[in-house]
Amino acid sequence: MDSFRSKENLNRFESIFGKTNRPPRLFQAPARINIIGEHVDYLGGIVLPAAIDFAVQVYLRPNDTSSYHLYSVTYNETVELKKPLGPNPKSPWADYISGVISEIEKLGHTIPGFDLLVDGNIPQGSGLSSSAAFEVVTGYSINETFGLHLSREEIALIGQRAENHFVGTKCGIMDQFIIAVGKQDDCISLNTETLKYTYHHFDLGDYEFYLINSNVKHSLKDSAYNQRRSECESALVKIKAKYPNFTQLYDVNLSESELENCHLTKEEFKRTKHVTSERERTKVVIDGLESGNFKEVGSSLFQTHWSLSKEFEVSCPETDFIVDSLQSMGVTGARMIGGGFGGCVLVLDTKDHFYKIEDVLKKSYQQKFNIALDFYKFQISDGVKEISL
Ligand code: GLA
Repeated sequence: MDSFRSKENLNRFESIFGKTNRPPRLFQAPARINIIGEHVDYLGGIVLPAAIDFAVQVYLRPNDTSSYHLYSVTYNETVELKKPLGPNPKSPWADYISGVISEIEKLGHTIPGFDLLVDGNIPQGSGLSSSAAFEVVTGYSINETFGLHLSREEIALIGQRAENHFVGTKCGIMDQFIIAVGKQDDCISLNTETLKYTYHHFDLGDYEFYLINSNVKHSLKDSAYNQRRSECESALVKIKAKYPNFTQLYDVNLSESELENCHLTKEEFKRTKHVTSERERTKVVIDGLESGNFKEVGSSLFQTHWSLSKEFEVSCPETDFIVDSLQSMGVTGARMIGGGFGGCVLVLDTKDHFYKIEDVLKKSYQQKFNIALDFYKFQISDGVKEISL
């Protein structure tokens, strides 16, 4: 990944923005997986993500003007941004950059003009956080180029605010955070209330994680995400009216009958059930990964999937079909990851089982949905960094 189209893109950069005696610098941010703790990172929950070796790369060079000249390889499109920065309805990809610049400037910095080329190989809409990678690599490259001394954690928060305010998804902090602080071979357990985190190295022995991309992205993804978040917030307001000591939905540990007394709607009740049961599964998964009890880990991953599907209602027929098929083929564990409504399924299984799964599942999925599946093996990799050219 480090040499990913770098010569070609450097030539492209110079032919679009001109060759000067100051070459651009190259920065790269990874994609991410999340092992457990789904839809809890905006509720103060614990998550267990890792950075993986798909990437967004940005070439950046100051241009001694007050405007920003951008080029996207994916869209083969040039955009010029001038202040005041606003939305770019014709080229929504530029919003990620406007959003990050604006959020950095809100902190009191002034960002001079620059030329920027972006390229990437994170499949969009796959639940692997291509947006967060773009935000974090933009923030990091501005920080390094203009010497702003922002920490990795601050860059993650800037990326999240850009997504919340400019792109419109009220996402939590998990994606930007792991993309900013990830380390090769390690995942982190992140407390999304305090932002304290610990690196973990798990020895998987004969087991492996891999991904299956459903190659569907349902359009209600962003609106449903924001709706789930507000259902969780209204559930907490009602629970607090009876039990004022709870400050986060994630910490609620009431019995079903106590919860019924809180006058939650059917949706609020189901969302609360997912969030609080995910807390218990997260403990089981971390313990199981530490002690090598992968069967227990796998069974919790399946439980999380069906909780996301039935209680949180963020799955879809395609990812349900994949997980259901894997379960009946005797795979150790699997679940949808990320926001939902399509995207990838994360699989935990013994290494020798892979060849028995791939072709059979590709065939049955093609037959049912007329869509091809992609299987990805991956490495756990570093967070955002500079690549020497
Ligand atoms: C998306 C969001 C994250 C998180 C996950 C679900 O990836 O960007 O903040 O909420 O969904 O866990």
